[in-house]
Amino acid sequence: MPIYYTRCIKPQSIDPKLFTDREDEYHHLKAILKSIILAKEEEERRLLIHGERGVGKSILLRKVLFHLKQEIDFIPVIVDGRNSLDAEELLRDICEKLASQLRDEYKDERAICEISYLDEVSRADKMTKSEAKSRASEIEAKSGAGIGFLDFLKLSFGVGGKEAEAEELTKSITTEINSRFLRELLSFVIKTIKKEVVIAIDNLDQIHDKNQIAEFVREIFKHRESLIIATLRSEAITAEFRRSFRDPILIKGLSPEALMDILARRIEKCPEGEILKNRLPPIADTLKTLTDNPLSFLTWIHFLCNNSELNTENLLNDLNGFVLTHYNFDPEKASSISKFFLEKGNPFLPKETILAESKISEDDYAVMIENGILVPDDLYEPRKYRLSPDLLFFKLKQDSENETISNATDREFSNKPR
Ligand SMILES: Nc1ncnc2c1ncn2[C@@H]1O[C@H](COP(=O)(O)OP(=O)(O)O)[C@@H](O)[C@H]1O
Ligand SMILES: [Mg+2]
Repeated sequence: MPIYYTRCIKPQSIDPKLFTDREDEYHHLKAILKSIILAKEEEERRLLIHGERGVGKSILLRKVLFHLKQEIDFIPVIVDGRNSLDAEELLRDICEKLASQLRDEYKDERAICEISYLDEVSRADKMTKSEAKSRASEIEAKSGAGIGFLDFLKLSFGVGGKEAEAEELTKSITTEINSRFLRELLSFVIKTIKKEVVIAIDNLDQIHDKNQIAEFVREIFKHRESLIIATLRSEAITAEFRRSFRDPILIKGLSPEALMDILARRIEKCPEGEILKNRLPPIADTLKTLTDNPLSFLTWIHFLCNNSELNTENLLNDLNGFVLTHYNFDPEKASSISKFFLEKGNPFLPKETILAESKISEDDYAVMIENGILVPDDLYEPRKYRLSPDLLFFKLKQDSENETISNATDREFSNKPR
């Protein structure tokens, strides 16, 4: 039975309040973003942030945007690719988040009405001309400044103001609310409102339909009014991304000390904090030397806190349970493939080499790719694979085997007759 149950380790949380360290990257990113936001006239204001999964891109970006918002005036719209099936859903999400941000900014009757229609459109499939007309007259009846929604209706549906009798015939004409519609609407709104809108697409590589990512990038880039920031895993950077985003920022792994700071911040206000402060250090001290990836580090510790007795002697054995629970894979096999990769220093290797040298079956190889034990060099055209950072704890096994060998050699040596 595990001795603790704790929610404090939070391996997935990107709450900026938990952010620590990374002083250099924080200031660097903040300075870059600030200068791009202020360079309003420039075309192609885009920024790409990339790095290994779990390295800390999302939390860094949120922290920087959160602080920058207190220094300069802009409207941040942050969406997450993981919540969208395709390019259109991502645009819908952007409309919805923009509407929600605008609610805080505008108090005019007309703006409030337009914002609620922007929000409505983000969920609707189609709009008839008659619906557009009734919304336009409702908005026109309100006083104050708008956010551009009325102008968009006028232009797209030819409604508003005085209309000829013949217009009656076209009332039931239906317009599909698709990517193009949403993009044009967004452009209209962003042009109308006075403040800078910064659109941040976190995990752009993780929209479900991978084929649509390039399309989305093209779609969103037709829209030149605002700064667009995207984060993605390095293995998802295609030639197209490289062309679209100049000077991408690479986020690297963290030092053992930084990993310990991240952990400490999480247990600061934790109800189980006292026990964890006593029991975790030996385990964390060992684990921090095995990875520079905060997500892997936190995921292991979270698992151990909730599924083990937090005993350093059993660390490797307890983490075998992690392979089973998180990867649904035989820990013995995971251990042997890890040994193979770790002995080589975990390089990316082609299938032929992996199969020939590691002696795993073709079926196991396929399963390991499917469940993420092996990760590709390129998400779309994978040619080589290496061990997932989550499995680097198998270094413990390697270390203990090396120790046994060196102890044995020592013994042999000392047993030799003088
Ligand atoms: N500098 C940091 N301070 C505090 N927590 C961090 C830091 N960097 C990463 N983390 C934590 O590590 C995990 C992975 O970070 P995340 O930003 O989601 O990575 P990525 O977006 O690169 O996949 C999250 O739980 C996050 O809170
Ligand atoms: Mg992320």
